[in-house]
Amino acid sequence: MSEARSDAPEATMANGTVAPNTAEMPDTTPSSDVYAPSDGMIENANITAYMRKKGFDTYDDLYQWTVNNPQDFWADMAQELEWYAPWDQVLDESHAPFYKWFAGAKCNIVHNAIDRHLTTWRRNKVALIWESEMGEMRSYSYHLLNREVSRLANVLKSMGVKKGDIVTIYMSRIPELMFAMLACAKIGAAHSVVYGGFSVDALADRINDAKSKVLLTADGGYMRGKVIELKKIVNEALQRTPTIQTVIVTKHTGQDVVMETGRDLWLHDLFGLPIASALCDTEPVDAEDMLFVLYTSGTTGKPKGVVHTHGGYMVGTYTTLKMVFDIKDEDRYWCAADPGWITGHSYIVYAPLITGATSIMYEGAPNFPYPDRWWNIVSRYGVNVMYTAPTAIRSLMRFGEAWPSRHDLSSIRLLGSVGEPINPEAWRWFRDTIGASETPIMDTWWQTETGHFMITPTPITPLKPGSATRPFLGVDVDVVHEDGSSCAANEDGMLIIRKPWPGMLRTVLNDPDRYVSAYWEKVPGGVYTAGDSARKDEDGYIWVIGRLDDVIKVSGYRLGTAEVESALVSHSSVAEAAAIGLPHELKGNAIHAFVILRMGFEPSPALEAELKAHVGHEMGPIARPEKIEFVTFLPKTRSGKIMRRVLKAQALGQDVGDTSTLET
Ligand code: WT7
Repeated sequence: MSEARSDAPEATMANGTVAPNTAEMPDTTPSSDVYAPSDGMIENANITAYMRKKGFDTYDDLYQWTVNNPQDFWADMAQELEWYAPWDQVLDESHAPFYKWFAGAKCNIVHNAIDRHLTTWRRNKVALIWESEMGEMRSYSYHLLNREVSRLANVLKSMGVKKGDIVTIYMSRIPELMFAMLACAKIGAAHSVVYGGFSVDALADRINDAKSKVLLTADGGYMRGKVIELKKIVNEALQRTPTIQTVIVTKHTGQDVVMETGRDLWLHDLFGLPIASALCDTEPVDAEDMLFVLYTSGTTGKPKGVVHTHGGYMVGTYTTLKMVFDIKDEDRYWCAADPGWITGHSYIVYAPLITGATSIMYEGAPNFPYPDRWWNIVSRYGVNVMYTAPTAIRSLMRFGEAWPSRHDLSSIRLLGSVGEPINPEAWRWFRDTIGASETPIMDTWWQTETGHFMITPTPITPLKPGSATRPFLGVDVDVVHEDGSSCAANEDGMLIIRKPWPGMLRTVLNDPDRYVSAYWEKVPGGVYTAGDSARKDEDGYIWVIGRLDDVIKVSGYRLGTAEVESALVSHSSVAEAAAIGLPHELKGNAIHAFVILRMGFEPSPALEAELKAHVGHEMGPIARPEKIEFVTFLPKTRSGKIMRRVLKAQALGQDVGDTSTLET
């Protein structure tokens, strides 16, 4: 496994690693470059220990066993966690694709994330280190985390929140966001976290779909020295939502906010009441009870409420963090994502706690006040494992090596990337500049729907920059044609998953038919279609190319063309709108919109600015189009669907391809 194969000039390093000579390597180095893991990494990795325990000599042999016997493998992992009552069946396939994992078992993810640590030495271990860009710092041991979560859980209970309810959470990246999620789970209620960068309409839509009665928020959040006025956005959104009865507000930024009597309550006031006791039993739930819903953009219409459950999700997130990021008890782990997206749910909140790790949460921008803010955090806390997105790497790379070189980054032993394909140039910069030219990069492919890593290296995988490498243990991935037949090596096709996995989504909230049609019927054969195009090379390495549908990845954030378009047409001047993603150097993709104005409105730079601001106000700043073009015609099919593919090809100056269905 440790043998390196490379067409580029190589140098053997002191520790035996064979590393390409990056100084002489052009950015266009062929993808056949392979970066082998070091012997030390192989020797000490959690995955190696598991491989030996199971009696296998290579990852390939272990992988084959797990993929042929996924139920045995996942049950093996599940046994490392605690359950209130065992399962009758590891996987119940009787109502496919409505699969059930660990059917019949009783558990609670919070029992594994917090409770079980309290009876061990980890009780006094630091669970969370938090700092905000404004300089505030806090840390919580598992013991203290339990107290905060229990108090909030009791507050929620006193408000009548119970199993089956969905509590909406809209906060910035503060510890209370984590406490809120865990408090819901602890009492058996589900949470729906809305990313703090979303705005009025996005928030209102999600509250309405989840029919939440209780909303947890904060007065504001910090981003790049500015206050994001969360409570103000909430007040506006609640005028569009009939269901919310109570809003619990955390005081964070401290500016004046409008509180509505009878509806809005300060968390610190509630914590002063006897109901907020720090003693709260964790509610046993069925393994298949809903843990959370998280909205994500799909091809058409409103975002989908992706449903995840306690049992399988806890096994899947725990296993992947342990095996891929190789978390050890002495590690300082930092996932720089936002808890409001699946990355944060799985790898800031749940998996690190289940693993008993010490993790870091940072509220703010990577370049505030200076472009070395992140490297400063790494050196001060001695971060060992760091997980971020290509867009952030590219933006920090732009500031040059002087910024990271001012800091001691030698604690880092593993790096991770997620959200979009990472360009080899950014991959190499990350490894060389942040990882001292020897740190492996775990390029993890997964989705809101998959719950946890699906295609990813482990610390013992030879790496190819730009490829998420191989399927994770127990995960059966293929690249196929539309008829379901496998593509040849290096042929582009659709990325599919052949067998169910524990952290998979269970349904789309309020729309089980959409669950079936969006994921399980696109390709024949009862397989899960991811919505990505990809190719598999001759070594079985997967190269994800991008989305096949109308999802745009802007800075790694997933947005739907439909949401941007509906925000545009909600402006009084807009008759019709179409949004597409075009390549962008830093963001990966940027949104370009085409707008047909209503009678009586004239195109102007002022109107373009107003429309951009309007989308920002309704959806959130990340959805603001980069450019708006005023047009009098949009290419449509005869059935009236906008042909975004044609718009995109035209914008890129490419051949528009088959337009036989185009309306003329
Ligand atoms: C889509 C899912 C934040 C967790 C994952 C994002 C793209 C994700 C990679 C990667 C290439 C990637 C895919 C996928 N994507 N990771 N390592 N390499 N593409 O979750 O917001 O649901 O987006 O992100 O297109 O389908 P998400």
